[in-house]
Amino acid sequence: MDAHKQLTIGLFGFGVVGEGLYKVLQQTPSLKASIKKVCVKHADKKRNAPEDLFTTDKDVLLNDPEINVIVEVINETEPAFEIVTTALNNGKDVVSASKKMLAEHLPFLLELQQKTGRSLLYEASACASIPVIRNLEEYYDNDLLHSIKGIVNGSTNFILTRMFEEKLSFRDALLLAQQLGFAESDPKLDVEGIDAVNKWSLLLTHAYGITEHPSNIVHNGIQHIQLSDAVVAQEKHFEIKLVAQAQKLQNGKVAGFVLPQFVKQDDHLSFVKNEYNGVVIESGFADKQFFYGKGAGSFPTASAVLSDIAALRYQYQYEYKKKYHHKPLELTDDFYLRVYVSFDDWKYIPREHFESIEEWHADADRKYLVGIIPFKELREQNWWKENNTSLILMPDPIIESLDVRKLKKMSLELAGII
Ligand code: HSE
Repeated sequence: MDAHKQLTIGLFGFGVVGEGLYKVLQQTPSLKASIKKVCVKHADKKRNAPEDLFTTDKDVLLNDPEINVIVEVINETEPAFEIVTTALNNGKDVVSASKKMLAEHLPFLLELQQKTGRSLLYEASACASIPVIRNLEEYYDNDLLHSIKGIVNGSTNFILTRMFEEKLSFRDALLLAQQLGFAESDPKLDVEGIDAVNKWSLLLTHAYGITEHPSNIVHNGIQHIQLSDAVVAQEKHFEIKLVAQAQKLQNGKVAGFVLPQFVKQDDHLSFVKNEYNGVVIESGFADKQFFYGKGAGSFPTASAVLSDIAALRYQYQYEYKKKYHHKPLELTDDFYLRVYVSFDDWKYIPREHFESIEEWHADADRKYLVGIIPFKELREQNWWKENNTSLILMPDPIIESLDVRKLKKMSLELAGII
């Protein structure tokens, strides 16, 4: 495809993102890209576009030799997988925003890209309007990436902001996120951290060459956070955010997870409100860099799809440099986390599993402690998300190794023994 060639698009999906893209393309005539057909599920819905643009037959798009780009922005995972694989096999380039499908099938899709030589781009699938995938892929094309952490789900950030700053109830905040088009059709995906971990698994591939199924990455959402946690956060001058984090450890492996976290007020992420996303990258010489932008919504997501379409004019493909040109890194469980845990009763908390407990408050109805726990505990046990227990990471939570003597002394002092 040369740079002057017209891109003829077959679009799957005309929901929040699909319609957004349709409008955005109309306002970008310089791109020389036009939508030839749109495949939708229900033919009889009233839509703001000419009727003859639409079909319900996917093969009309997938088998049209004139269509050289398939843009897929539908909701269902397996149909999206089928569309993307057929399109690549039929020699078409593909732009997709189906983060769940991409995250769950990435190893297969990597092979298919190699086999077909076609391009599969998906910038919109992580952090919507923020060009984080292409930056990780191209700009951080080296092994000096120390850490990356971010707020990668707009809905949960929107809910936390509205609950704690405007005192909206969880239900009302979620309803508003749904009305504004930020939430997944199954809001559990947002609230339980599944959407965030899907995005995080994609970003880990482009940051470190890690291809890990999202279900193997330790994660949780905001569903266990209590009002009393927000009170403690306020006392300590922290904000509560759902943070995706990855850090290269001294052993060369990567600590990675998605969990709620107390964020200090001078942390870049505390600045990220509502449906905005933010990513802080720490690299060898540049120190910290902060990417910020809208992480959900019609036009912000469509803008990333548009940018991918534009990149196809010059045959852009992800090279997966960290995976294929460097030594890909691996995730590890061999580190510790500093955590805050709030709970109704001590009997739900295996205190002996903590390396140390540095603070505890046992008098109020809702009790809490701050302590250090091996990361493995979160992977292997479930007590921290059961019986109304809430676990929130403390700021800068990752501890690579422990000074055991110092910790024992601290615990004994707190227990009033010395
Ligand atoms: N439900 C997603 C979010 C939409 O809230 O971030 C954008 O991927």
